[in-house]
Amino acid sequence: MRPLDQLRSFKVKLGVLVAVSVIVAVVLTWLSLAANLHPLLTLPLVVLAALAVTQVLARGMTSPLRQMTRAARAMARGDYSQRIEASSRDEVGQLAEAFTRMATELQVTDKVRRDLVANVSHELRTPVAGLRAQLENIVDGVTDPDPAALEVALGETERLSDLVDDLLDLSRIDAGVIDIDVEQVALTPFLHEAVDAADLGARARGRELRWVVEVDPADLTAAADAARIRQVIANLLDNASRHSPPDGRVRVRAERTAADDGVLIEVRDEGPGIARADRERVFERFQHGGGTDDGSGGTGLGLAIARWAVELHGGRIQVIDDPRPHTDPDRSSAIRLTLPDR
Ligand SMILES: Nc1ncnc2c1ncn2[C@@H]1O[C@H](COP(=O)(O)OP(=O)(O)OP(=O)(O)O)[C@@H](O)[C@H]1O
Ligand SMILES: [Mg+2]
Repeated sequence: MRPLDQLRSFKVKLGVLVAVSVIVAVVLTWLSLAANLHPLLTLPLVVLAALAVTQVLARGMTSPLRQMTRAARAMARGDYSQRIEASSRDEVGQLAEAFTRMATELQVTDKVRRDLVANVSHELRTPVAGLRAQLENIVDGVTDPDPAALEVALGETERLSDLVDDLLDLSRIDAGVIDIDVEQVALTPFLHEAVDAADLGARARGRELRWVVEVDPADLTAAADAARIRQVIANLLDNASRHSPPDGRVRVRAERTAADDGVLIEVRDEGPGIARADRERVFERFQHGGGTDDGSGGTGLGLAIARWAVELHGGRIQVIDDPRPHTDPDRSSAIRLTLPDR
């Protein structure tokens, strides 16, 4: 039982405590005087009674503080599981509540950090292992150092440097470094260049895709940081080409938004698309559709970086319903980004 729990102020609690002890002491003194008890006996009796009353009333007033000290020590050791039980509503109770909230948030942050480190190491290991194997083969004379062998090594090195670039972008996101240089970008040449680059990449993987670029009107411009948005479009086209059927068609469409407050760009392919349940998750870091690596060979950073870049422009990027009538209504390969006018 904690009789003072309902009081909202620590000061009032102390006041009640002092008042009740004084009243008990006075009443006891008065009673023992009336009963003709010797003062040498009265004094310890009164002190004991006052202490007992304090003990009962002060119950739970400071125990959250002790628990918080213990929990803070545990947190320093990396253990976030300790919870504070505080039933009081005073400042100590509120502090305990804030402390618990902080501990929960720290626990989440700590888990994100651990996952990130684990994911990054995992992603780095694959190209490094490939590169190492290839170089070992060359050193041991198993493989001749001819252009073909070196090209494999170069491929792995490129994967590594792409990954490091992505990670640098992510750390910039985390550091909150924002540097966008917005200009009016003419979308027709811009999207054609992006498609040409993506086509080169697709051909390198042995795919002959058909690309369609529709910009309406043809001289449409968007307020954008060309380098950042080029990277976004490149990521979307890369995804589209990876998930397309071998001779599939990838469409890129740009026009004014319906509300006429900016420009929208849509990329869609004829592949299986993204399930409705995954529409938000694919924009998270290291998320591959379907929960694990879906075999498309990606790291799961492309869309996370794309969302960051688009949001830097004050825009939005999302998976929209697939305009293709014949596909599974639950899946969609259409991604739309909007860039507002300045
Ligand atoms: N056009 C698409 N069709 C089907 N699934 C897609 C498409 N685009 C993205 N996805 C799904 O979303 C996931 C996340 O995409 P994202 O671009 O972030 O990562 P990634 O392509 O796997 O790796 P990265 O782009 O870092 O190399 C992909 O793994 C894939 O499962
Ligand atoms: Mg990708």
